[in-house]
Amino acid sequence: MPASLVAPRTGQPLGGRLRRALLLVPCGLSMLMGLDSALALLNLSAPLGGERFTGAHGMLMVIGFVGALVGLERSVAIRRWWACVAPVCMALGALLSLVGPLPMRVGKAVMVAGCIAMCVDCVVLWNRNREPLVAVQIGGGVSALCSAIVWFGGAAVPGFISFLISFLVLTVIAERLGPSRIGQLAWTPGRRRLHEDSLVVLAALALLSGPLTMMRPSVALPVYGLVLIALSVQSASGDVARRGIKAAGSNRFMPVMILTGYGWLVVTGLLLLRPALSGLRYDATLHAVLLGFTMSMVAAHAPTILPALLGVQMRFVAGFWGVGLVLHATLAVRVAADLAGSEFWRQVGGLGNIASLLGLVAVAIWSSVTQDAAATEQAPRPGSGGPPVVTVPRADA
Ligand code: HEM
Repeated sequence: MPASLVAPRTGQPLGGRLRRALLLVPCGLSMLMGLDSALALLNLSAPLGGERFTGAHGMLMVIGFVGALVGLERSVAIRRWWACVAPVCMALGALLSLVGPLPMRVGKAVMVAGCIAMCVDCVVLWNRNREPLVAVQIGGGVSALCSAIVWFGGAAVPGFISFLISFLVLTVIAERLGPSRIGQLAWTPGRRRLHEDSLVVLAALALLSGPLTMMRPSVALPVYGLVLIALSVQSASGDVARRGIKAAGSNRFMPVMILTGYGWLVVTGLLLLRPALSGLRYDATLHAVLLGFTMSMVAAHAPTILPALLGVQMRFVAGFWGVGLVLHATLAVRVAADLAGSEFWRQVGGLGNIASLLGLVAVAIWSSVTQDAAATEQAPRPGSGGPPVVTVPRADA
């Protein structure tokens, strides 16, 4: 391949980087539309509005944004073009559900297709590697599919929140199982097996809670809350992040964000012991897990996910700490305001949450651009010899 078609410093074809960057566009748009609708839900003025926007906020964020991001990461691991169908349909389905002239069901149907494709990806991974980690991933995929199907069938989000929560919680916990094995080297095989099997059993219970919480929410949601607490404690107990918490400087960022995320999952479980399916307590319960747990995990892994996805290099910048601080501090303000019944402070916290997500994108771009600039400065002149081109490790390496 001609050298000019190879991305500097990464050794990956520019076409491949460009294609992946384009695939990120619908996912990024879903996030922006989700944030726009969040403004309206906070009773603040939003650039774009309407009933369809507010009604789709939850699915835009969970399936169209985070779900599509997970699907893209998985497509890198599967290394087949068809693995991109899941993330593209998940994000496009969410976006199409907003487009006026089209019936909302068209977008919902595309989203169902995306979730089916995600389950197929999970089965492909299972056939390659029959590990507890993949079994937990399958639980996440099936939860996403169930939520998309019941949304297509006309159910409102409060009716199936446990499916939405299980999708993201199981997916993230499965992702943590892989790296955590490094920290479990001192464990006997029996102890590790017990740890992983217990996570599979808890994942199955979380999945089972889905239909039960739809039928008898007042009884099933508190039990589901206990399952989430158990999942958090069990996953954290074997997570390599516990060792990294004492690391110095930037190495500490990831463990701090991961362990804080587990903390928010426990808060969610506790809030579910007295469940609410509308109002401020509902807001607190949902965002403790969807922002506190999920987005903390996304921020923790951003310096590794984006290089694997886009084939770009990133360097750790202090801005990541700033984003993490704003995310957790403003979420704490929001949850406290929800529980105290203060609409004003909920709006303040909510605006801070939006700023933290936009800040994460800005910091990620900044860290990649400044890494490229630093790399170009250090790059040897042609013919001068020098270090080989750096290749970013793939997600499945
Ligand atoms: C970044 C800032 C965010 C803000 C300001 C925000 C704001 C809101 C508000 C005000 C509500 C209405 C709650 C109520 O009924 O009282 C809501 C609902 C919801 N949000 Fe968010 N949200 C944000 C991020 C997220 C994220 C990242 C996710 C998922 C990954 C998410 C998922 C949901 C879901 C599933 C609902 C329930 C929707 C429904 O009942 O129809 N939100 N959000």
